[in-house]
Amino acid sequence: MLNYTQLDPEKCEFIPVASVDDLPNGERMFIEIDGDPIVIFNIAGQYFAIADLCSHDDGPLGDGELENGYEISCPRHGAHFDIRTGKALSLPAVEDIPAYPVRVTGGEIEIGLPVAG
Ligand code: FES
Repeated sequence: MLNYTQLDPEKCEFIPVASVDDLPNGERMFIEIDGDPIVIFNIAGQYFAIADLCSHDDGPLGDGELENGYEISCPRHGAHFDIRTGKALSLPAVEDIPAYPVRVTGGEIEIGLPVAG
């Protein structure tokens, strides 16, 4: 797991991961970059990407219910996280999870990863 939560887009390298056509409004998509599982959401045309790994007990998070617009509930023990920031919002999770910047360039969804060094 990468050791960060919110990344500064200015310090990221953006990697194309899918076409916007592959992720319609209201859907989510699971990908892996360098072994790190990531889930991407399209909410009313806005894209968000977080680690698909709960900080409580490493459970997969991405299949959880979305509540209050931007809150995902972990399917295992119910911790909530804000998918915009990765912030842990409720117990049993106390640590935030990575939230990745997302942008669309030429119809491609791109995920920001920290530039090495
Ligand atoms: S693994 Fe997510 S709340 Fe326990």
